[in-house]
Parts: sequence; C-alpha cells; structure tokens
Amino acid sequence: MTRVVLVYESKYGNTKLVAKTIAEGVREVGGIETILCEVKEVDFDKILDYDVILIGSLNHLGRPLRSVRKFIEKLGKLNLEGKQIAVFDTYIGSDFEKTVKKMEKRISEKVPGLKLMVPGLSIKVQGIKGPILDEELPRCKDFGRKIVTQIST
Ligand SMILES: Cc1cc2nc3c(=O)[nH]c(=O)nc-3n(C[C@H](O)[C@H](O)[C@H](O)COP(=O)(O)O)c2cc1C
Repeated sequence: MTRVVLVYESKYGNTKLVAKTIAEGVREVGGIETILCEVKEVDFDKILDYDVILIGSLNHLGRPLRSVRKFIEKLGKLNLEGKQIAVFDTYIGSDFEKTVKKMEKRISEKVPGLKLMVPGLSIKVQGIKGPILDEELPRCKDFGRKIVTQIST
C-alpha cells in the first residue's frame, strides 16, 4: 500500500488543520495510508517507509520555520530515490506562496534527487491565530486528491 506522511509544524493549529484536510482528500480517493507527524516528532529511521512526504510550515517572518528548514536539510542525508514530495504553507496578508517557494527552493538545493510532485499549496488565514478563510479549506482537500493522481507506481 502507498504510504503518505504529512510532516508539519503549527503554532496555533491552522497548519495542522491544513495537513488534516489534505490527508482527508488523499483518503477519499482510497487505497492510501496517511500519517500526520509534527516535525519535532519525526523518526528519521522511519521516513524511508513512506512513498510520499508532504511538508507544511506556517509563514514565519517570510519563510518556513527553522525546524522545517532543518528537516529538509536532514532529508538530504537520506537516500530518497523514488520518493515524491510536495509542500504547503499558511500565511496572512500578501505573502501568498512565499513560504512554499522557499521550501521548494531549499528542497531543490538540499535534496536534489527528490521529485516535487505538484506545486506547493499556500493557504490564507485571517490573522496570526487564524482561522483559515472558509474558501481555502476546499483547496486543501483538492490538493490531497491531486497528490493521489500524481503518485507514481
Ligand atoms: C512570529 C510570527 C511571524 C509571522 N510572520 C509572517 C509573515 O512574515 N508573513 C505572513 O504572511 N504571515 C506571518 N505570520 C502569520 C503566520 O503565518 C500565521 O500565524 C500562521 O499561518 C498560523 O499558522 P498556525 O496556526 O499553524 O501556527 C507570522 C506569525 C508569527 C507568529
């Protein structure tokens, strides 16, 4: 069975909700196991058990959190041949896609062999503590479904 891990960090719960909703979208399609994991709890020995790695961070001063940056750097030390990856962020104001672009750049620099399966998902929240704008949640589910269509067998 294909296995998808969603690794994220979330201060106020909004990025976690994005991760959960993406996972719902993935599960709706069926036949795929999804697991959510906070970045600080990742077991690097187990990362190789997953076929797809999805990484989420809130926009923190215009970039991903340090823990997420470190996580990407550590991925570069593993042999991830054949694995697929994609990223997601949450932001306020006008920082649409700013953090996903930085995560994608970091992945291409630190883990060059890893394939970005779809462009990153950027989700707007109303204020520092959220909530996620109503119209944004369906985009998370769609992203999950899209991930499934891109999984290479
Ligand atoms: C210290 C701090 C700095 C932030 N800087 C930015 C920023 O530069 N641009 C932006 O769009 N959002 C910024 N935000 C807003 C966060 O992206 C928002 O709080 C986050 O999406 C909430 O996600 P969470 O509930 O998963 O923690 C900042 C939030 C905090 C706490």
